[in-house]
Amino acid sequence: MSDSSSKPVLVTCGLPYANGKAHIGHLRTYVPADIFARSLRKEGREVTFVCGSDTHGTPIVVNAEELGIPPKELVEVYHKHFDETFKQLGVYFDAFGTTDDPENHHRTMQIVNRLIEKNYVYPKIIEIAYCPKCNRFLPDRYVEGACPYCGETARGDECDQGCGKHLEPGELKNPVCTICGGPAEYRQQEHFFFKLSEFSDFLLNYLSNDLGGTSNAINYALGWVKQGLTDWCITRNLEWGVQFPGHEDLVVYVWVDAPIGYMAFTEEWAAKTGNSWEKFWKGDGEIVHFIGGDITYHHCIFWPAMLKGADYSVPTAVVASGMVKIEDRKFSKTRGYVVWVGEDYLDHGFHPDLLRYYLASYTSHTKELNFSWRVLQEKINTELVAVFGNFLYRTMLFAFKNYGEVPEGKLEPEVSAEIEKALKEIKAAMAEYEFKKAVDSAMTLASFGNIYFQSHEPWKLLKEDRAACGHVLYNCLHLAKALSIIFEPVLPLTMETAWKGLGQESDIHAVQYEEALVPLKSGTKLAKPELLFTKLEDDKIGEMEEIANQRVKAADAKKNAAKGKGKEPAKSDGMGPAEEAKPAEKAADAAITEEKGQIETLPMVEYEDFAKLDLRVGKVLLAEPVKKSKKLLRLEVDIGEAKPRQLVAGMSSYYTPEELIGKNIVVLTNLKPAKLCGVESNGMMLAADDGGAIVAALMPDKDLKPGSKIR
Ligand code: MSP
Ligand code: ZN
Repeated sequence: MSDSSSKPVLVTCGLPYANGKAHIGHLRTYVPADIFARSLRKEGREVTFVCGSDTHGTPIVVNAEELGIPPKELVEVYHKHFDETFKQLGVYFDAFGTTDDPENHHRTMQIVNRLIEKNYVYPKIIEIAYCPKCNRFLPDRYVEGACPYCGETARGDECDQGCGKHLEPGELKNPVCTICGGPAEYRQQEHFFFKLSEFSDFLLNYLSNDLGGTSNAINYALGWVKQGLTDWCITRNLEWGVQFPGHEDLVVYVWVDAPIGYMAFTEEWAAKTGNSWEKFWKGDGEIVHFIGGDITYHHCIFWPAMLKGADYSVPTAVVASGMVKIEDRKFSKTRGYVVWVGEDYLDHGFHPDLLRYYLASYTSHTKELNFSWRVLQEKINTELVAVFGNFLYRTMLFAFKNYGEVPEGKLEPEVSAEIEKALKEIKAAMAEYEFKKAVDSAMTLASFGNIYFQSHEPWKLLKEDRAACGHVLYNCLHLAKALSIIFEPVLPLTMETAWKGLGQESDIHAVQYEEALVPLKSGTKLAKPELLFTKLEDDKIGEMEEIANQRVKAADAKKNAAKGKGKEPAKSDGMGPAEEAKPAEKAADAAITEEKGQIETLPMVEYEDFAKLDLRVGKVLLAEPVKKSKKLLRLEVDIGEAKPRQLVAGMSSYYTPEELIGKNIVVLTNLKPAKLCGVESNGMMLAADDGGAIVAALMPDKDLKPGSKIR
């Protein structure tokens, strides 16, 4: 994007699927986008920064069904998780909605209707993968086969391991059901298509001349457009999602309503703050999308075509990051190459800013980023601690001890010239989305500070010429002030503390870059400085490496165990939309990772939290399959009340109705009622799984009276 424009800017981030926990791979989108938004604000630009949870799509429906909860409940949990995690990391959105918000349903309907009106949508009978054994259609991730373009193993809607191309239903060769592993067949069904092919000329021109951002994204998309675009199937047979107008049995494909979320969240922000959303989506405000390289096709091809077709403004820039690897291995949740933001990082007491620093400064934004605990340690200790932290601490400590306030002094031209140079470089780097370059320039300024301090030997001057010493310190403190402003986008939380330490009362987040050249006021009281960055010790890093190793071993063991049972877990490579955790994987994600007799459990709770659960023994009086569902059983259970309770449990794959009737089970009786496949469940039957194929209902080993309390 141009760095001279003064138009308002909307910055967005690829929406996280509300279907699993935040991991370091995700952060490659969110942290640089947050740095970018903060930096633009420091340049005086008007910035709106929005994101939200992606709540629709087949995987969410199937995961929820597996857990025996409605999709809405599942996504609420993860929506909250992402919202909280982002705040902890200092990633502050102006709006963080969900694609299930009324605003998004409304905007999606409006756009789809507009595309229909303009004749960009047509019906067509197509072949959809169907599993005769599971008795269901297999949309998107629920079918695997060979990619018709490159031959690699691919998922129903994307060649995630090979060429990365979006695939249409029916395109996959030799389809296999990912639920049961059996061969799938193609069956006919009517679906609706978007005339993407009509947008070829528009896209060719747009991608070649108008779209800004990173060249990896633009070139990748251009390559596909030049090969010729096929029309895009935009409907799915699901109950969860945004309804396709006029067809109750269809919802729009998740990749239709997900990017529209960007617009809906802008509307939410506008309504909340009395601003206009149209200035971006109908006017000439800039729109900058931050994404991971894995979702380039959707953002550079589908999305601009949809916007163009529905008469909205198209994005100004798409900034696509390289993917994140773990210890030089391809990111993979199933193989254990994953670092969870919560339990592997924040919960161990690591400061969020350290990770932000790593993500921004490791390498160029478009390159692959390797996460390694040793490299984190090395970068933090030799750069943040030894250079920047050292300069801030020695300057502030020396000044605080010997003066207690900012001493008299004048800003040296040599010092202001260095600051100016850094600012110029940083602005240019940000305009090119080169966050590493920006951080390197800031670090060079910190090194200059150290040299300035060292070469002027204030500790000697103090004894000989207190005024001259004050002057040196004045310049050092001014540099500390400039550095706090300059580093705020990358290290927003620590720079808040530094800013206060320098006796500044303004809000560091609102202070602009220009302020870095405004001479510091002599006489400003200084606070006792705090050590802002502490070294990462070998022991701690060793401990983290051990946790990582154990996870990989546990994943291997699980894989081997599955092989032994003749049931290999579906291949999965752990990233982006291609990932959307599979049922078995999700169970492991959500709760437990078993490794070497050790389990990682959820946080401790008080007894009173436990006591809120009304757990009782119940006798199963009736069990029968729920129509329309392959997983669910409807149970009637005597829990000592006048009338039996109706429960719905995801047990069909593990128990026949006959195996349950007459048995005593454990029921959580005060769980809020929920409807599953149209049947109300008034409680939950408890069962355990080992993360693999074994699922067992909990049954007391003596014949207790129905209603007996579990405590
Ligand atoms: N829901 C879609 C995006 C819809 S945007 C209209 C999605 N979700 S995601 O949860 O898989 O990813 C969220 C963001 O994190 C995306 O920008 C994605 O590219 C990014 N990443 C997820 N895993 C990643 C890595 N391992 N490495 C780098 N970025 C990755 O995609
Ligand atoms: Zn099947």
